[in-house]
Parts: sequence; structure tokens; C-alpha cells
Amino acid sequence: MAKVIVLMGMPGVGKGTQAKLLSERFGWPQISTGDMLREMAQNETPLGQHVREILASGQLVSDDILAEIIQERTRRADCQNGYILDGFPRTVHQAELLNRLIQEQGNELTVIEVTADRDVLLKRIGGRLTCSRCGAIYNLHFQPPQQAGQCDRCGGPLIHRSDDQPEAVSRRLDVYEEKTAPVIEYYRQHGGLVSVDGGRPVDHVFEDILRAVTGAAA
Ligand code: AP5
Repeated sequence: MAKVIVLMGMPGVGKGTQAKLLSERFGWPQISTGDMLREMAQNETPLGQHVREILASGQLVSDDILAEIIQERTRRADCQNGYILDGFPRTVHQAELLNRLIQEQGNELTVIEVTADRDVLLKRIGGRLTCSRCGAIYNLHFQPPQQAGQCDRCGGPLIHRSDDQPEAVSRRLDVYEEKTAPVIEYYRQHGGLVSVDGGRPVDHVFEDILRAVTGAAA
């Protein structure tokens, strides 16, 4: 039975960082809906333009677009043994869609909520740099690159995300409370939710997540 790991939590809590570590450890793909939408936003098409505007505003992209993306991506061969969802589901409607997919695919679901205080999130987001070529994540305060502005892994240029501006960040935090916090509640009620304190160093958080994943696999 393939494993599906869902990483949930507020913007900047470290979902992407932890999803990459899990992906390296288990060889399962990291499916980041944020990364996929940022890629779509680069297209000079009406859809690309639409997604670009929503991302910059800090609102959520529609459930219909997300349903299409997730169904197509999770059917690919590299998801056969498992996959890691980073940023999906974000609404109760998306959680219900995922339940249907898990049943169809005969997979086992583990949902991990990563938590941290708001001031920690704001500091992390404020210092975040992302490689525009390979997607590696850095932080000016906690995990700086060896050479300023350049990715250690591939040498690509490091950028600040357009939705990391203070106004968009504040909107993303509000949207999380309104639309995504009910999903946490949904999983709490349906069982299988594990909460991990994400306010600690990356490797400590990872140890707890690993325990949740391998515990669920035992
Ligand atoms: P998305 O890209 O998913 O953004 P997010 O949820 O706001 O989360 P972030 O990527 O900001 O943070 P993260 O938790 O991954 O933290 P990271 O590891 O980078 O979504 C972006 C947008 O896309 C949404 O606003 C929405 O518009 C749209 N979207 C995406 N999915 C959607 C969906 N399902 N439905 C509808 N719309 C959707 O870490 C942050 C920083 O902290 C980094 O610099 C990192 O180096 C550092 N850091 C991480 N962990 C630690 C640690 N333990 N200690 C110190 N520093 C740390």
C-alpha cells in the first residue's frame, strides 16, 4: 500500500523544507501545489495571468484548478510507491477530493500539521530566498547560501517570492485561518492527524515527522 503524506501548516512554517527532506529520505515525489502554480503563473496565457494575479494577492486558487492539477499529478508513475503533498489540501472541498483519490488509489494517508508562532513565521518568510532554477530553499537568518544570491546546489539565482511582500503575507495568514484551519479540524475529527512543533531547528522537526511517518507505516 502506497503512502500519502500531507504536510499542513501556516505559510512559512517549513512545509517545503520538510517535504524536500522526506522526498530525499523515501524517494517519493514532493508535490508542492505552490511550486506548480508558480510555474503555471509564468505562462503568458489567460490562465497563467489569472494564476499570477491570485498568487500575488495571497488568495487561494480555485478548487477546480487544484482538482485538475492534483488528479493529473498523482496518477503519474513516480507516485506509485507514495507521494508527499505540500500545500494541498487547503480547503475542506480539497480534503474531500483527496479522500476520494486515496480510496480510488488504495493508498494510506498520514496528515502532519506543523505549527509555529506567528512571529517565527514572519521572520522565516522575511528571510526566505528560493532558487529560481532548482527550487532549493534558503534563509538569510537561519540557512544562508554560501555565496550571496547564488544557489549552493546548482548556482542558480536566488529570489524573493512575489507573495512574500508584507501585504500578501498578511492576506495569506488570514486566508489560512479562514479556509485551511477548518481542514485541520476536519482531519482531527476523522482521526490520523499528527501535530509537530515546527518552531525548532529543521533537523529536530524532521525527526518528529519521520517518527510520525514510520510509526504510521509500522
Ligand atoms: P505555498 O507555496 O504552498 O505557500 P505557503 O503555504 O504560504 O507556504 P510557504 O511556501 O510560504 O512556506 P512553507 O511552509 O513551505 O515554508 P518553507 O519551507 O519555505 O502556496 C503559495 C500560494 O499558492 C498560496 O498562497 C495560494 O495562492 C496558492 N496555492 C497553493 N496551494 C494551493 C491550494 N491547495 N489551493 C489553492 N491555492 C493554493 O520555509 C520558510 C522559510 O523558513 C525558508 O526560508 C526556510 O529556509 C526557513 N525554515 C524552514 N524551517 C525552518 C526551521 N525549522 N528553522 C528555521 N528556519 C526554517
